[in-house]
Amino acid sequence: MSKVAVMDHPLIQHKLTMLRDKNTGSKDFRDLTKEITMLMAYEMTRNLNLMEIEIETPICKAKSKVITGKKLGIVPILRAGMGMVDGVLQLIPAAKVGHIGLYRDPETLEPVEYYCKLPTDVEERELFLLDPMLATGGSANAAIQFIKDRGGVNIRLVAIIAAPEGVEAVHKLHPDVDIYVAGMDEKLNEKAYIVPGLGDAGDRLFGTK
Ligand code: PRP
Ligand code: URA
Repeated sequence: MSKVAVMDHPLIQHKLTMLRDKNTGSKDFRDLTKEITMLMAYEMTRNLNLMEIEIETPICKAKSKVITGKKLGIVPILRAGMGMVDGVLQLIPAAKVGHIGLYRDPETLEPVEYYCKLPTDVEERELFLLDPMLATGGSANAAIQFIKDRGGVNIRLVAIIAAPEGVEAVHKLHPDVDIYVAGMDEKLNEKAYIVPGLGDAGDRLFGTK
């Protein structure tokens, strides 16, 4: 069974409150999304392996630690996941970035794929799948399946807000994928929007409607 981790760092929770507020405009919404993602990435990379190397400081030779082990990849689900990319890249600039284009059909609520391009060595990378909203879980499940079909095995889902229905749906189809969220919300409404949520993440990020 995969797990869901709620990142309850006070800075993340404070920024999440501002993100939810309907009076927050697109520029601040983009900045907050990036900042929250960066703080989440900081917490999520605590378990990266380190190895000692020898360097020379201006004073003397010294042993010091650098990150080793699996390389990272990040995969935003277009379009709203794009708002989370820079937050991770700021901390891990060497990460490769794949893209999965999906939208949720407003009638059927089923995910519709329109683009998929992943790093060629996807099977060797530790992957962060990025999407601010985990609602029914249809989009995340489809994206995880695309990655697995192309050889990806080590996948973690990073969402800013999730509904219990979405978490359960991902647990059911992809029990190997751990989920990281900033906020675990109450439920979905009749249009499958997250309650209390933050509205339509893509529209708020990009100023569309
Ligand atoms: C939103 C959101 C997720 C999806 C979540 O995208 O960014 O990808 O809905 O819903 P689900 O869990 O029920 O699948 P949307 O389809 O609105 O596309 P957009 O990012 O292009 O705005
Ligand atoms: N997609 C969003 O952008 N918001 C929701 O509440 C649900 C799906």
